[in-house]
Amino acid sequence: MQVVKYVFQPHGDERGQLVALEEFKDIPFRIKRVYYMYDTVDGVVRGKHAHKTLQQILVCIHGSCKIRLDNGSEKKIVPLEKPYEGLYVANNMWREMYDFSPGAVLLVFASELYDESDYIRDYDEFLNFVKERKNNGEN
Ligand code: TYD
Repeated sequence: MQVVKYVFQPHGDERGQLVALEEFKDIPFRIKRVYYMYDTVDGVVRGKHAHKTLQQILVCIHGSCKIRLDNGSEKKIVPLEKPYEGLYVANNMWREMYDFSPGAVLLVFASELYDESDYIRDYDEFLNFVKERKNNGEN
């Protein structure tokens, strides 16, 4: 499984750091939605779903957390610890976010508006989804 992590270029000077992200340039899709998680309760695991079409870039802009990615046959754990790192999460990927440090803020850029019908929240359904895609010759 290929993990795609972007390293954004900070505009640093004597005042500090600034990261600017533009759609199709730094973010590989049109940004239709932005959301963020904060005040995450210790020990909580968020996510636990996949998407049929949605692509996302996850940036832990404060603190740290871990992302567990699962493509149905392989699992990888990706730590997000830097405000200039973005993890690309494709549609056909089961994801779990956990191990949030106190005060962590996880910012997400999404390629689509919120649509509950795009979610796959059942793990067995997800496995069938990726199997069917594979049978159809899709990635
Ligand atoms: P949820 O999907 O449970 O978050 P996650 O699985 O990523 O931990 O979302 C929590 C609540 O927020 C749920 O009631 C749906 C709502 N929500 C929106 O209204 N818009 C959004 O863009 C997102 C991501 C969630």
